[in-house]
Amino acid sequence: MITIAIAKGRMQESALALLGRAGIRLGDGAANSRRLALMDETGRYRFLFVKPADVPVYVEHGIADCGVVGRDVLLESEADLLLPLDLEISRCRIVVAAADRDAMTKVQGMIRVATKYPHIANTHFGSRGIPVEIIQLSGSVELAPALGLADMIVDLVETGITLRENGLTVVEEIAESTGRLAVNRASYQLKSEEVTSLIKTLEATLTQ
Ligand code: PRP
Repeated sequence: MITIAIAKGRMQESALALLGRAGIRLGDGAANSRRLALMDETGRYRFLFVKPADVPVYVEHGIADCGVVGRDVLLESEADLLLPLDLEISRCRIVVAAADRDAMTKVQGMIRVATKYPHIANTHFGSRGIPVEIIQLSGSVELAPALGLADMIVDLVETGITLRENGLTVVEEIAESTGRLAVNRASYQLKSEEVTSLIKTLEATLTQ
C-alpha cells in the first residue's frame, strides 16, 4: 500500500480529479466524509488530507510515501524530498505586489513585507540585497498594505482577482507554481515498484 498526502484546499479538487483520471479513486461514501484518512476503491492507496504546509512534513518523515502539493509550499519548506513529476494542476505565480507599481523605489526606509511565505520572501529580497522586514501572516495577506501593516506583500496570484479587488498590482514575479508529486527518499527505494508504477501512471495520464 502507498500512502499519499493531499494538500487540502485550493489543490484538493484538481489533485483528486487527476488521480481519478489515472484510475485511482476514493471508495464509496468518501465524497461526503469528514474523515481525513481514506482508502481508494482498490485498497492499494491510502489518502491523507492535510494542510498544504504539512504535506512536506508527512512525506519527509515517511508517514506518507508521496504527496501532492504546490511548488510554493515546497519552496517555503525546503524539505528533502524527491520531486519526480510536475502535475500541471493549480497553476499560479508567487509575486511581490503593492498598491503602486513603483513601490520598490518609493518606500522610505526598510520595506515591510507581509506574507505567508517568509522564507521565499527573505530569499528573494536577500538575493537582491534589499533589506526587508518580514511580517508573517496566515492568510488574507492582501489586506495588509491598505491597512498600513506592510508596504508590499509576497503571495500567490491565480486569476488576479484578489489583488485587483484589494487595490494591489504585481510589482515582480518570483516564481511559477504548479502542483507537484513529492516522494519520500526511502519509499522510493523500498517501495520502488509501487512508487514507480504510480509515477508512470500519472505521467501517462498527463500526456493523454
Ligand atoms: C490564495 C492567495 C490569494 C488568492 C489568489 O489565497 O493567497 O489570496 O488565493 O487567488 P486569485 O488570484 O485567483 O484571486 P487562498 O484562497 O489560498 O486563501 P488565504 O488568503 O486564506 O491564504
